[in-house]
Amino acid sequence: MPLPKFPDGFLWGVSSSSYQVEGAVDEDGRGPSTWDTFSALPGKVLGGDTGRTATDHYHRYREDVALMRDLGVDVYRFSVAWPRVLPDGAGAVNKAGLDFYDRLVDELCAAGIAPAVTLFHWDTPQKIEDDGGWLNRDTAHRFADYAAIVGAKLHDRVRMWMPLNEPMVLTLFGYGIGAHAPGRELLFEALPVAHHQLLGHGLAVRALRAAGATNIGIANNHVPVWPASESPADRSAATLYDRIVNDLFAAPILTGRYPTEELAFAMPGPVAEDLETISTPLDWYGVNYYAPSKVAAPDANGTPARIDGASLPEGLPFDFPLIEGYPVTDYGWPVVPDGLYETLTTLAERYGDRLPPVYITEGGCSYHDKEHDTRRVEFLDGHLRALHRAVTDGIDVRGYFVWSIVDNFEWAVGYSQRFGLVHVDFDTLERTPKDSYHWYRDMIRAQR
Ligand code: FCB
Repeated sequence: MPLPKFPDGFLWGVSSSSYQVEGAVDEDGRGPSTWDTFSALPGKVLGGDTGRTATDHYHRYREDVALMRDLGVDVYRFSVAWPRVLPDGAGAVNKAGLDFYDRLVDELCAAGIAPAVTLFHWDTPQKIEDDGGWLNRDTAHRFADYAAIVGAKLHDRVRMWMPLNEPMVLTLFGYGIGAHAPGRELLFEALPVAHHQLLGHGLAVRALRAAGATNIGIANNHVPVWPASESPADRSAATLYDRIVNDLFAAPILTGRYPTEELAFAMPGPVAEDLETISTPLDWYGVNYYAPSKVAAPDANGTPARIDGASLPEGLPFDFPLIEGYPVTDYGWPVVPDGLYETLTTLAERYGDRLPPVYITEGGCSYHDKEHDTRRVEFLDGHLRALHRAVTDGIDVRGYFVWSIVDNFEWAVGYSQRFGLVHVDFDTLERTPKDSYHWYRDMIRAQR
C-alpha cells in the first residue's frame, strides 16, 4: 500500500555528520578533535576503528551529492567540523577548511538540494577540550564565535541551521559514562556540560542571526520512556530519566526553565540570566527518534546497568531492561514506529504552542544487508505511517531526514553498524545503493 500523502511542501532529506563521513582528519589544516584522540585510545571503539578515512566524503563529496540528487531529496543535513574551520577552536580561521563547506554548499545548490547545517555534532576541537571542554563556560562563547564565522560565510545559501545535535548524548555518553569522546566518567557531575551546551546554543542562535542566517532550530533526541512496571520505584526512576533525556534541553529552550528545581540548582553560573539567552525563540524544532527506553529502578542485586551493550558505571539511579515483543535491528534496538507518534504527541502535550514547527532531523536503522535491505524499507515505511498519523492529528511536522545517506563511522561501535541507504565497502570505499535507496526515491517521487 502506498504511503498516504504528506502536506505540500513537506521536505524529504537525509542526514550525516562530519566525523562520521569526512575522513581527511589531518588535511588542509584541520586541527585534531576529541574523537581523533578518543578513537586512538585502545579499547574505546570496537575493532579499533577511527574516523581517519571514514567514507572519504571529504574527497568524494561530489559523488555523494550526485547520489542525493538522483535520490531526489529536497535537503541534505550535514555538520561542519569546528576543528576544520578553527583548528584550535578559537583564533585564526583556517580558510582551506571553511572553503570545503563553501564548495559542498555550492555543489548541493547546483544539484537542487537545500543545505541544512549542524554546527556541532560532537567533534570538539581538542584544544577546547584541553581547556576544560564543555565543563568550561568559556566554551559556549568560543562556540558562538565559531557560529558567527560559519554563518557569515554560508548564510546566503543554507536553508536550515542547527547549532547542536543531541546535546544529551554528549553530556551522558561523553562526560557522564565515558562511552564517547572525551571519555569522562563524571555521572551527575557532568550536568554543567548540559548547561554550557544550552548556553552555547542560545549564544549561537543569536550570533547566526546577527550574521544574516535565518531558519534556526536544533536536532534533539527524544525517547519515549516506559516504566518497567507500575511499582513506585520503577515509576519514579522512569520519571527522573524522562525529565533528563526528554526535557533537560527541550524545557530550557522552549520555556526558559529547567524541568525540575533540582536540575536548575545543579547548574553553574548565573542560571536565570542564561535561561533568557537559552530560550531565544527558534524557527523550528528538530526531533531525532530511534527507539523507546524501558526504565527500572537500579537492580537490587547491584548488577551494573547496561545500555547499547555498554556497562554503565555503578551508582546510576536507573536500569534499562530489554524491551521485548518487537523486532530488533542488527544493533539490537527495538523497532517501534508508534514510538515516533508517542514522542510527537508527548512533545505537543508538554510544550503546547511553545513548540514551533517540527522536523524529524534523524530516523533510521542499522542492518547488515548489502543490497536487499527489506527490513530497512519496512522500518522506514512503518515510521512514516506513524509520522503521518501525528500530522493528521494536527502536529505541525514539516520534514523527515533519514539517518543516513551512506554507511559510516558509528561512534563507539565503529564500522560494525550500517545505517546507510547506500552501502559502503570500507576497503574500496565503493558506494552501492541499497533497495531502501530506490524505495525512498520512488516514495519521494510519488509524494510530488
Ligand atoms: C544518533 C546520532 C547520529 C548517529 C545515529 C545512529 O544518535 O546523532 O550521529 O550515530 O544516532
